[in-house]
Amino acid sequence: MPDSGEETELPLTFTPLGTALGARVTGLDVTNISTEDARVLYENWLKYHVLVVPGPIISEDQLVDFGRCFGALENARRQSVLALRPEIMVISNIRENGETVGALPDGELSFHFDRLHQKVPNKAGVLHAMEIPDAGGDTWFANMSLAYDTLPEATKARLEGLTALNTYEYGQTHSANKKLDADAPTAVHPVVRTVPETGRKALFICRLMTDRILELPEAESRALLDELCDHAESQRFVYAHQWTPGDILIWDNRCTIHARTDFDGRQRRLMKRVTVGDDTPPVH
Ligand code: OGA
Ligand code: MN
Repeated sequence: MPDSGEETELPLTFTPLGTALGARVTGLDVTNISTEDARVLYENWLKYHVLVVPGPIISEDQLVDFGRCFGALENARRQSVLALRPEIMVISNIRENGETVGALPDGELSFHFDRLHQKVPNKAGVLHAMEIPDAGGDTWFANMSLAYDTLPEATKARLEGLTALNTYEYGQTHSANKKLDADAPTAVHPVVRTVPETGRKALFICRLMTDRILELPEAESRALLDELCDHAESQRFVYAHQWTPGDILIWDNRCTIHARTDFDGRQRRLMKRVTVGDDTPPVH
């Protein structure tokens, strides 16, 4: 018979969410994450690239504690009226007095790495679902390590040593007569990067933000980027997450891209987010 007051601990379990990437986590007490839990979470995050922890809505302090299992957190660049802690970024379409309360308010988002326009993009993103619309607003994740591994050997050889210019002007990247604003933030990164802890390579370009491959003529660059994006976005590399309030989801921003499906803007969607920073620029 167990001693009175002693809790029966469920083991931490990771169940794959499909064949592409991702695992569902059960047995985690997010109100009390031990050092050992954090170690096991980290190890499985490296393996699955995306972890989903279902459960009740948690406090900002608990979300921060969860995020810190994966590294030091960045502060949100814009503080929201709906957040108390500086690390919390609000992703929402809610408007108060005509002003958005959070970032990325409306509808569909093409596949992207976060902050690819920065010299050192963040290592991971964590979203916690607070309110979700009845339909749509799903977040899709694609496994860029698997996408790289399954490229033809000739394509892999062709990508050796290539670098790409990435920009923040969301939506402009593919418009026909695009003209980059002279002071739009940009960063040059290798087209293929390595995740330091695992040594695994990943494609490091995306539809939304990669402008061009610098070593190739424009037309050739465009054709190769389209080919790589089409390949990476195929269903076999994608896990599509349908949100339930309370879900905590962490993705590895070094080897996964994500996208969002459209949703009815008249319905509320509210997510709280923390961002795990990185300390070194991506290398091939
Ligand atoms: C993000 C993002 C997608 C979503 O937070 O970087 O792209 O589903 N969010 O809101
Ligand atoms: Mn994003």
